[in-house]
Amino acid sequence: MILITSVETLRSVVSAARALGHRIGFVPTMGYLHEGHLFLLDEARARSDFVVLSVFVNPLQFGPAEDLAGYPRDIERDTRLAAERGADVLFVPSVEDMYPNGDPAVHVSAPRLADRLCGAFRPGHFQGVLTVVTKLLNIVAPDLAVFGRKDFQQYALVRRMAADLNLPIQIVAAPIVRDPDGLALSSRNVYLSPEERHDALLLSRALAEAQRAFMLGNDDAAELVTLAHDVLSRGTLVRVQYLDLVDPDTLDPVLKARAGDVLTVAAFVGSTRLIDNQTLTHNAT
Ligand code: PAJ
Repeated sequence: MILITSVETLRSVVSAARALGHRIGFVPTMGYLHEGHLFLLDEARARSDFVVLSVFVNPLQFGPAEDLAGYPRDIERDTRLAAERGADVLFVPSVEDMYPNGDPAVHVSAPRLADRLCGAFRPGHFQGVLTVVTKLLNIVAPDLAVFGRKDFQQYALVRRMAADLNLPIQIVAAPIVRDPDGLALSSRNVYLSPEERHDALLLSRALAEAQRAFMLGNDDAAELVTLAHDVLSRGTLVRVQYLDLVDPDTLDPVLKARAGDVLTVAAFVGSTRLIDNQTLTHNAT
């Protein structure tokens, strides 16, 4: 694996791989890699011949009161894990390299899809995400890029951006990777105390109980949401930000649940903000 920090070197290494006929896969991350990220890498490797994984903590997508400075980082460990798992290139650009002119004058925005769910509580967040994803896709120029369903709204926005702006890149979705007890893996899980981690499990439990009720025939969205809220209310450390059942493409709340709709939740557990979601299916998950 080659570790690359400069945009120019990255471009020339990828061009050389492409000249050899390789199909290029790309996995963008903010690092502090865990099994969720590494699973994305597996998915990229299965579909391409040359895989670039990026680690860049993007200042543009953090609000002023958010955890940019404290965002967990360990580039040595990330380098080892990415190499062990078969990345061909680890791309770690600096903030100066990515934003040489400071804040970009041109952004990518998507108000209709971005200002709801997480976006309602994190103004500007998805504009920052879409802008950096566009920059990274333009730098790497991959054939495909892999995103996790863990960040469901992000995945929906990137997919829509690729379609609406005719990006010549296949957007691949990877399933949510969880700890054996159900907690969705997240770089932010390291912030949780043992008591908070215990209550954090209620997120996946609430989603699973709603999924079970749906499977047993309840298609009333309000009832499924209430059921999930009841489970979450068992946690004294849990403060729900939103809990909605939405259409996977429009992200509009639904009244009658159908398979494919997504029950999505954001909650603070102590001072850590966690998100999780569950796509409803007629079969056991
Ligand atoms: P980050 O939070 O590091 O996540 C990078 C990718 O890993 C995202 O596509 C995310 O959905 C996926 N991921 C994280 N946890 C996962 C899990 N438990 N199971 C499956 N996939 C998981 O998302 C970002 O970074 C940034 O917004 C980024 C796209 C890199 C732009 O800055």
